[in-house]
Amino acid sequence: MDSKMPLVERLVEHAKKSPVSFHVPGHKGNAGLLGAGVSFFGEVPRYDLTELPGLDNLHSPAGAIRDAQQLAAKAYGADYTYFLVNGSTVGILASMLSAARPGDTVMVDRGCHSSVFSGLVLGRLKPVYLPRPVDPATGIPLAISPGEVERSLGKARRVKAVIITNPTYYGICSDVKAIADRVHEKGALLIVDEAHGAHFKFSDGLPGDALDGGADLVVQSAHKTLPAMTQGSWLHVKGDRVDRERLERMLGMLQTTSPSYIIMASLDNARYMMEREGARRLGEVLEYAARARLEINGMGKGFFCPDGQYFKARGCHDFDSTKLVINCSGAGLTGQRLDHFLRNKCGVYGELYDLVNWLGVTTAASRREDFERLVQGLNGIKPEPVDGDLLPRFEDLRLDTAADPWEVAEGRCSRVELDRAEGRTACGGVIPYPPGIPLVCPGERFSARAIECIKEYSAFGITIKGLKDGQVEVVE
Ligand SMILES: Cc1ncc(COP(=O)(O)O)c(C=O)c1O
Repeated sequence: MDSKMPLVERLVEHAKKSPVSFHVPGHKGNAGLLGAGVSFFGEVPRYDLTELPGLDNLHSPAGAIRDAQQLAAKAYGADYTYFLVNGSTVGILASMLSAARPGDTVMVDRGCHSSVFSGLVLGRLKPVYLPRPVDPATGIPLAISPGEVERSLGKARRVKAVIITNPTYYGICSDVKAIADRVHEKGALLIVDEAHGAHFKFSDGLPGDALDGGADLVVQSAHKTLPAMTQGSWLHVKGDRVDRERLERMLGMLQTTSPSYIIMASLDNARYMMEREGARRLGEVLEYAARARLEINGMGKGFFCPDGQYFKARGCHDFDSTKLVINCSGAGLTGQRLDHFLRNKCGVYGELYDLVNWLGVTTAASRREDFERLVQGLNGIKPEPVDGDLLPRFEDLRLDTAADPWEVAEGRCSRVELDRAEGRTACGGVIPYPPGIPLVCPGERFSARAIECIKEYSAFGITIKGLKDGQVEVVE
């Protein structure tokens, strides 16, 4: 295997032949495009190819795709790496469906992504939720403690797999190694949703990655933190606990039979770029981020940009310092107002905001001037009178479970006014976006406090999935 980017190289070779296309895709490498589409897509259609001889097949890789996957596995220290063309979402689904069978119990991070709930429904799995403490000052969900995992595993019966998000959207890291040890002691698999941590492997200045920590299945959205195209992701497998045949069957059922060569080539390229340049560029970005943090905290405007030390003092194992979390309650602003200001007045677009925080994601492709623009923008904001108590904080509500998510998904549901939902069982769940962490999970009962929280979030203009015209879906 001599080539450096096997898949990219095969696509370039093919395009150089000026081939006549009697195959899909329908754009025929450009001629099908008109008007602005021609310049918009540029050279992309020439490489947007299909399973031609020499270009391999994602579903039974034996050539360029196999080689590119093997190089990715080597870079991450995995035994096997699978290219994903439908984001981490499809990797999470395939991992869950391969690790557990209908009726099995799985332990799930209460702050997990919605794809994990889809996995619970599709696999007819029984969840036991792992709580996360919440930092009262910033409202940010903190780390899952290994002790909590041990306690929960001790109480639950025959858990097949434990699924945790690490790092979280905000960059919070739990102690994956200590968690993996406890999970394996109980004979379960550890699946880590590392959607936001594909860059960890490439810098000593970042937290350790989940594969190194002993996880069995690790899913990463390369498109989130590496220079890869949207949807491009990886599923890594390590060790002999995973049934790889079953995993591949699941991937075969869940992934399209027409995977995008553009997305797959971008994965090949992202791995190559990070191996060559990742450490240097991430080192620079970490310096820019540290400087920006100092400047933001020193502005005297009430903004607070926490660092790793802050989160470690609150029990977190580590923190991804490429994330810029700006707590704005001290400046009398909601996350939404800060986001609005930064977008409209400074042309700075963040990744997400919540009630009291704004989150900026930075990567090896971020530039020094991007950080400068953010700091300048924040400097231009006039502080307002502080009334932090007005702002509701995220709460771990610890609700009673009445049914499993798949049962409610298959049952009959109807809508009721939020005020009349107390004691009723949630159908689809109630999830404020951002940050996308459920207040009420499917199958949980609405409590009076949950209803109050939903109203508080709604009053602050946060979009809430599962709340429509003041009504929520409940089991009939
Ligand atoms: C924690 C987490 N896991 C998984 C996903 C799904 O990733 P993808 O968009 O690559 O499917 C997301 C997406 O935002 C996420 O935030």
